[in-house]
Amino acid sequence: MTKPVNDGIELVWPNKDLELHASGSSSYVWVPSDDARLTMPPVRHDYTTSMYSSTSSALVIGDGLDALIALSATPLFADGIRVLYIDPPFNTQKTFNQYGDAMSRSMWLSMLRDRLAAVKPLLRDDASIWLHLDDSEVHRARMVLDEVFGEGAFVASVIWQKRQTRDSRAAFSSNHDTILVYAPSGPRSWKTSRNLLVKDEATLRNRDDDPRGPWADAPFTAPGFRKAQQYEIITPAGDVLRPPRGRSWYATEPTYKQLLDEDRIWFPKQGHGSPRLKLFAHQLRGLVPFTVWGSSDVGTNDDAKKHLLQLFPNSTVFDTPKPEELLERIIHIASNPGELVVDLFAGSGTTAAVAHKMRRRWVTVERNTQTVLDFTLPRLLAVVDGSDPGGISGQIAWAGGGSFAVTQVTPRFGTLTGVHRPRILESKLEAIRSTHTFTSPLSA
Ligand SMILES: C[S@@+](CC[C@H](N)C(=O)[O-])C[C@H]1O[C@@H](n2cnc3c(N)ncnc32)[C@H](O)[C@@H]1O
Repeated sequence: MTKPVNDGIELVWPNKDLELHASGSSSYVWVPSDDARLTMPPVRHDYTTSMYSSTSSALVIGDGLDALIALSATPLFADGIRVLYIDPPFNTQKTFNQYGDAMSRSMWLSMLRDRLAAVKPLLRDDASIWLHLDDSEVHRARMVLDEVFGEGAFVASVIWQKRQTRDSRAAFSSNHDTILVYAPSGPRSWKTSRNLLVKDEATLRNRDDDPRGPWADAPFTAPGFRKAQQYEIITPAGDVLRPPRGRSWYATEPTYKQLLDEDRIWFPKQGHGSPRLKLFAHQLRGLVPFTVWGSSDVGTNDDAKKHLLQLFPNSTVFDTPKPEELLERIIHIASNPGELVVDLFAGSGTTAAVAHKMRRRWVTVERNTQTVLDFTLPRLLAVVDGSDPGGISGQIAWAGGGSFAVTQVTPRFGTLTGVHRPRILESKLEAIRSTHTFTSPLSA
């Protein structure tokens, strides 16, 4: 498939030259790329009408690769993908309530590579890819990302503190996941289009009753010796100051005088201290994100489970949900309203729920029909009708709105086990069709 591009260094695994396709409802088969069946499109079954607009969002039931093949030429993807966030099964060799997580390593690697390779031509120039994993496969996955997108596309390895409680039985109590961030345009170019984190305005204060409101302050100095920025400043208390050794004032003297006239300079220590620049909320530059994200900022797995329990008090808990605050940060950094966010491993639907609340378009794909029925679909309906007060709803005053389409793609290799599944979906959707409009564009 993809050629080794990284100085000829590549990860090899059995059957790497074959493609891996979904077969049935939870397994995969190796397929040579000249297999005649690959020319047949996956079968699509739409539960809603008019879904293929460049302003709509979609929940797809099926395998992520089949979904991309079946839908990539529709207007849904016409504007290109701005963010791909994927949180696949980590290959922990465990069995969770909703899905098995034990694949052979080579299958897991091909599964990942084939989906990344299928996404690649659909990405916008300013796109980014966020791959969420734990230590089971992250080091191998990074080599796969290097192979598909090139080493130069690596942006960051984000550490998310996923829990605060300690597992005293383990050799080490692992409390983090890793999110690998790649941008096909490379970090220097991507940096110019990504969003900075919003500064916490709660830290602003109004120490001089400024009628313009509270402010932050920053030193009125700059590194290095600049002749035009070396002059005397007389403080309100009468002290005569020069810039500290090896530094200059932040601006030239005329600019300083103008700032002083505008009451933008603050002298601490009752007028004896060094000048500081007053910065009002609208003047604050955002923050460049750190690579370590604490749970106090973006939540834990347990926070996400509590949110789902609030929505579905009678369901078996979904084992591996991610908190909405984590997705809020990713989507904020990597996209703007109206742009397309894609998740090929929907689970309980966190990515789509947050993207919707943040007025992005989204496409999310989940292979397990029961998970869709129990979590993804009802959760997204609750987002639309404003009956989901959890996650980021309070923070952004989400009151509902918008719509989404629902479709199913069936694999070309093997048939779906449980043909009754579409009928269950049909009847469930029929019951909610009268109260929900799936056909109008995202207009919240
Ligand atoms: C780790 S969970 C995702 C959790 C999700 N981020 C959330 O917050 O709820 C992985 C999900 O991917 C689904 N899945 C596994 N293989 C898939 C495939 N080939 N295509 C689509 N979904 C798949 C599983 O059924 C499971 O629900």
